[in-house]
Amino acid sequence: MPARILIVDDEKDMLALLRRMISEERDYEVITENDPKRALERFRSQPVELVMTDLKMPGMDGIVLLEAVKKLQPKTAVVVLTAFATIETAVEATQKGAFDYITKPFRQERILHTVDKAMQWQEMVQENLALRQALAEKEGFASLVGASPVMRDIFERIRQVAPTMGTVLITGPSGTGKELVARAIHQHSLRSQKKMVTVNCTAIPPDVLESELFGHVKGAFTGAWKEKKGLVEEAHEGTLFLDEIGDLSPHLQTKLLRLLQEGEYKPVGSVVTKMADLRIVAATNHDLKTDIREKRFREDLYYRLNVIQFELPPLRERKEDIALLSRHFLAKYAAVNRKAVTDISLEALQALMSYEFPGNVRELENIIERGVIFCPGHSLTVADLQMEPVPAAALPLSQDQMAEMPFREAKERAIQYFHSQYIRRLLEQHGGNISRAADAAGIQRQYLHRLIKEAGIEATEFKSQ
Ligand SMILES: Nc1ncnc2c1ncn2[C@@H]1O[C@H](COP(=O)(O)OP(=O)(O)OP(=O)(O)O)[C@@H](O)[C@H]1O
Ligand SMILES: [Mg+2]
Repeated sequence: MPARILIVDDEKDMLALLRRMISEERDYEVITENDPKRALERFRSQPVELVMTDLKMPGMDGIVLLEAVKKLQPKTAVVVLTAFATIETAVEATQKGAFDYITKPFRQERILHTVDKAMQWQEMVQENLALRQALAEKEGFASLVGASPVMRDIFERIRQVAPTMGTVLITGPSGTGKELVARAIHQHSLRSQKKMVTVNCTAIPPDVLESELFGHVKGAFTGAWKEKKGLVEEAHEGTLFLDEIGDLSPHLQTKLLRLLQEGEYKPVGSVVTKMADLRIVAATNHDLKTDIREKRFREDLYYRLNVIQFELPPLRERKEDIALLSRHFLAKYAAVNRKAVTDISLEALQALMSYEFPGNVRELENIIERGVIFCPGHSLTVADLQMEPVPAAALPLSQDQMAEMPFREAKERAIQYFHSQYIRRLLEQHGGNISRAADAAGIQRQYLHRLIKEAGIEATEFKSQ
């Protein structure tokens, strides 16, 4: 039986075009719907391997459809089609579980390439599901690994504090596992059967974030054509994870303080106060004490959040964890990539132990993942690890390079390249003035700062004399 693709778009021409592009070259069964609600009914009634959906449709947003599909069948691959080529929507879609996005207009090759990759992914997920489930159950700590005294202490404290209502603040440099700790706290809490809703405070502009968090009433602002529930409500009886809390705007800091103090909030444009029942876990890589001194962060909010604190040290300060983490990631990526790599050589481990890991556990994970992919034998060697510092990807990928890379890595590189190109142009236009550049691009200043840093760009280079 051929795999089935469901395509959803309000424009019938678009449906016909996609159907033709796919059916001409591939054997998949293609079904189409121009009404997202009917599409969802159809999805419920018959098995579908891949859903391709437009983002802007009357009646139902593509993101909403994506969420509904993922809720019903997390193993279904979803590809989002968008004419609004903003990285924000694309990132939102991928965060919500989309396999990939395609910007309109597109060429047939792009469609076929993505469809093939999505189908491969779908097949792999089917096969790996059982394996991963077994693994997760065994670990219990949502794959949070560690044997160092600091990590043992963290595990112990997670068990102690998870069942309480206490607000948690997780601090530590980037890539140290803050999000994993948040997840472990939720899973060990009495709320584990309910949702943990994650909000990234940096990625969303403040005015949008307010209505995302607290919801809005109909007519609260232009475009608010119907009432919308906020994430606070979505996290009802569960956990709200506020990531990058250090980037929260002063206005929202005040609103959050009220939520923490009184357990209540008002949707945007509403006069009615709502009560919230949730556990708040926040994380940041900022030094909030400095932010307080420099009047960027409210001190009273800090004390409210900081009821229980977890401080994650950089990886170089807990080298005992390196071997364990390396083996953990080795097993993970060997399974994911179906490679028979089962061991890591002593020299390779020593090389890892003497490395500083500015990117912490995330960097170790990337090194091992890449190593597993390129490892020709059964044991990871120093050569496989390729630990020479790789320059920030300022070069576009060639077709050949792309074909050899795993999807995620290729995508990461493409995004890096896009970031670096976009930011250079933007800074040039605005003479290196970050506030103006951020305004013009419609993103937050802090977010732009981070992108600049990640791309290894010096903003001062662009200062007009
Ligand atoms: N103790 C750990 N055991 C297993 N995996 C870990 C551990 N710590 C971190 N990781 C992995 O490293 C990566 C980064 O972790 P995470 O996203 O939690 O970091 P973070 O502290 O939130 O970073 P950032 O500040 O950049 O958001 C993830 O892929 C995570 O799975
Ligand atoms: Mg994080």
